Amino acid sequence: MRRQTWMHLLAFLLWLIGGGILVNNLLAPSVATAAETQPAPLAEEVQRLVQEVTPHVVQWRREIHAYPELGNREERTGQFVAQTLGQLGVDELRTGVAHHGVVALVRGKGPGPVIALRADMDALPVQEETGLPFASRIPGRMHACGHDAHTAMLLGAAAVLVRLRDQFPGAVKFIFQPAEEGTPPGEEGGAKLMIAQGVLENPKVDAIFGMHVNVDLPTGKIGYRPGSLMAAVDRFRVAIVGKQSHAAMPWAGIDPIVTASHVITAVQTIASRTIDAREPIVVSFGIIRGGEAWNIIPQRVELEGTIRTHNPQVRKTANEAFRRIVTEVSAAFGATAEIEMHDYGPAVWNDPKLLEFLKPALAQAVGAENLVELQPVMGGEDFAHYAQKVPGLYVYVGARNESIGAIYPVHTPQFRLDEAALPIGVKTHCLVALRFLFESQGTLAEGQK
Ligand code: NI
Repeated sequence: MRRQTWMHLLAFLLWLIGGGILVNNLLAPSVATAAETQPAPLAEEVQRLVQEVTPHVVQWRREIHAYPELGNREERTGQFVAQTLGQLGVDELRTGVAHHGVVALVRGKGPGPVIALRADMDALPVQEETGLPFASRIPGRMHACGHDAHTAMLLGAAAVLVRLRDQFPGAVKFIFQPAEEGTPPGEEGGAKLMIAQGVLENPKVDAIFGMHVNVDLPTGKIGYRPGSLMAAVDRFRVAIVGKQSHAAMPWAGIDPIVTASHVITAVQTIASRTIDAREPIVVSFGIIRGGEAWNIIPQRVELEGTIRTHNPQVRKTANEAFRRIVTEVSAAFGATAEIEMHDYGPAVWNDPKLLEFLKPALAQAVGAENLVELQPVMGGEDFAHYAQKVPGLYVYVGARNESIGAIYPVHTPQFRLDEAALPIGVKTHCLVALRFLFESQGTLAEGQK
């Protein structure tokens, strides 16, 4: 009460000093004020063109869905994307980036900022069981993560923005990335390789935007989160090496099975005792492998799993604790531990300033009441690599619809999405890009020189 009175007095004094406008600016966030008063640039044209391209986007998505390809093998998909972009008449087209990746550029009417929009193109080793007419025609392969939709929505955005290019400044870079879900063993790929092959240069990208369909969010919603949205992913492989013996004479050997069981239990204390309870972390084992016969204590047990974190300091502490506990618990039983860690990438970091700046575009796409702030997600996304290099924003686009059975989780044979999400995704890409190109200069982006 006392605080409120004080605030009113302060507001009144400021009003006396600087007039009502100054008070408004001090008490209300400037971005929200701008969003409420200024219509989004070219919003009506975008709306009309999105409606026009939607039947094509649905058709493209179904075509891609029918021929899913795994990471670093997206030959047909990459060709389809390049051919479609060529027909749309983009200004520059680069193929064969990071194996089958495609990068296109649409230049506006003059100098200005450059925004990149990114989609992933790869599918999964899943046998589709949806029974849809355009279901996968390739046994054991399925677009079970919605990357077919991501690719089609980005093609749709290119179709719209090509037709508006004489009306906006700067340029839009369209990044169609392979191998988000990983590469075959021993191969490089994905976002990391795209960056190494220069996709953020020539012209230099000022910010990057991407999205993922989400069947936990109803169609018509967009889920966002400032800061860390998705987790950093570490994969571990551990071999606990003991000494083989007859199961009847365990004292004659060193039992890696009993050792492994203690290791697995002790490692649980990383989340429960080592890391601050307010920080998200998961330590999970997915594989435990060892032994050949019921009456032999084996020499070796292998464990594999993953550590997921959001805070880089937590990630470091958890990785160190993991090594220490595995090594020293094994040593306590007389066994040795071989540990391999694989870094699958950092957390997906949503630049809070960029998010605040782009929120009016998201609100324009679905309505401010349909923006949902999310909890941290423990899954990973290699979009994280781009967002380490330039300010990035990654959001979820709702694609849940119970009436058509779009309720099953990604990576399952029943996964399906609501195609009504496709035009929403196209529109979101376009409005985000246009807001950035028209409004960011001087505040967020430096622009082309
Ligand atoms: Ni995915």
